[in-house]
Amino acid sequence: MSTILRRLPTEEATGLRTGARHQLAQVYRPADLVVLGLGVMIGAGIFTIAGRQAATTAGPGVIISFMIAGIASMLAALCYAELASTMPTSGSAYTFTYVIFGEVWAWIIAWALILEMELAAAVVARAWSIYAVQTLADFGISAPYGDAFTAVILIVITGTVAMGSRIGLRALWVMVTAKLVAIGAVIVVGALHFKAANLGDFYVPPRPTTTPPDTVIGVVFGEGHAFGWFGVFAAAPAIAFAYIGFDLLATASEETIDAPRAVPRSMIRSLVIATVIYIAVAVVMVGMVPYTQISTVAPLASAFREVKADWMVHVIDIGAVLGLTTVILVLIVGQTRVLFSMARDGLLPRALAVISRRYHTPSTTTLVIGAIAVLLAEFVPVLTLEPLVVIGTLFAFLFVAAGVIVLRRRMPELPRGFSVPLSPILPACSLIASLWLMVNLQVITWAYFGLWMAFGLVIYLAYGKSHSHLAEHNRGGKHRR
Ligand code: ALA
Repeated sequence: MSTILRRLPTEEATGLRTGARHQLAQVYRPADLVVLGLGVMIGAGIFTIAGRQAATTAGPGVIISFMIAGIASMLAALCYAELASTMPTSGSAYTFTYVIFGEVWAWIIAWALILEMELAAAVVARAWSIYAVQTLADFGISAPYGDAFTAVILIVITGTVAMGSRIGLRALWVMVTAKLVAIGAVIVVGALHFKAANLGDFYVPPRPTTTPPDTVIGVVFGEGHAFGWFGVFAAAPAIAFAYIGFDLLATASEETIDAPRAVPRSMIRSLVIATVIYIAVAVVMVGMVPYTQISTVAPLASAFREVKADWMVHVIDIGAVLGLTTVILVLIVGQTRVLFSMARDGLLPRALAVISRRYHTPSTTTLVIGAIAVLLAEFVPVLTLEPLVVIGTLFAFLFVAAGVIVLRRRMPELPRGFSVPLSPILPACSLIASLWLMVNLQVITWAYFGLWMAFGLVIYLAYGKSHSHLAEHNRGGKHRR
């Protein structure tokens, strides 16, 4: 077998089921995982992106975009759930791919996951600072919009994560509860102001002149992405940002008690809860005011101002500040676990796989990730780069879905705590759904993504390939496969 396609021995990943390679403390119970899932999912996607998509791309059809993204996410979650139940490892899709498709593909997926989590942390930290300044302003305290807010939140969260998951876990429960209360208020108060007439133009005719074709599918059909069906489709991958995060639960596997059962179930539960919440918020948002009156800057707040429920603005601001905090927190934890796994396999410097004796977590890795997120958020205009987060995530979804099909054929006897029903049909549907969302992203997003992946491949060839644990074993004459 070619070196770059060498595969991680299955026992290395499945052995984690028995605790053979466990190094991280087991702290999560099933309820914690659901909170973790809601903590990372409900964030900028619902607080900001949904309204922006309604106003500029899909109109009230954004409800359908939420459903499309929700179905694609659920199919992906089923596939993740099966692989996580078989290989409960912090490497998540990276390790699954290493076992199933081989090292170079694993590296590529890891590189896509880094794009997902590191960039998302920077994007959400930026959005956090906008909400933080807004919240202070709403209470009459003027603070200059500043890069300082973004850096401070990232530093505080990185410090918390580096010092151990237990501290973070307690804070997480409190903040997620507060965020759910705020979102619950949006749904209930929004429903009181619901007017079916606002949904009247459920289908907004396309406006090709305002946006020339720029999504991959739009270029093929010569259609712009503003409104019409192509608008509804183009909004779906943007909305997929809101669902991103259920997949991160797989990275918590090594720290979860009874992971093969708990991870799949909690992943699906948290995604179902988030989907119901999102569709309810989408319905009330476009039902409260005509979509043309939704602001692209603070969409939910603007809708409540329009219906003279100004007090809700405070609820939304506080909910968003707390809500986005937990998103960043879980993203940084997830990113830490993937880098930790890569370093444990030798694909990154071993120092990143060291567990702090004092805090029992990979503290050094956490600090590196936090520092990179600060640099990204401060020096790159990340707020326009959300589609890159989405394409990286969807790319990993493709491999996870294909991985389920391949592993079932190759190792049908492997114990699975959860099995995707109707396999290989549902995994195949997951592949198609993720691809469909990807082709509804803009051509420019694909171009940036290609550059990022090419850069990653160069690093693999320059470092990972020769430092891999498997390479060292082969050099030592031990063939591990
Ligand atoms: N799903 C997360 C959010 O919407 C990334 O902020």
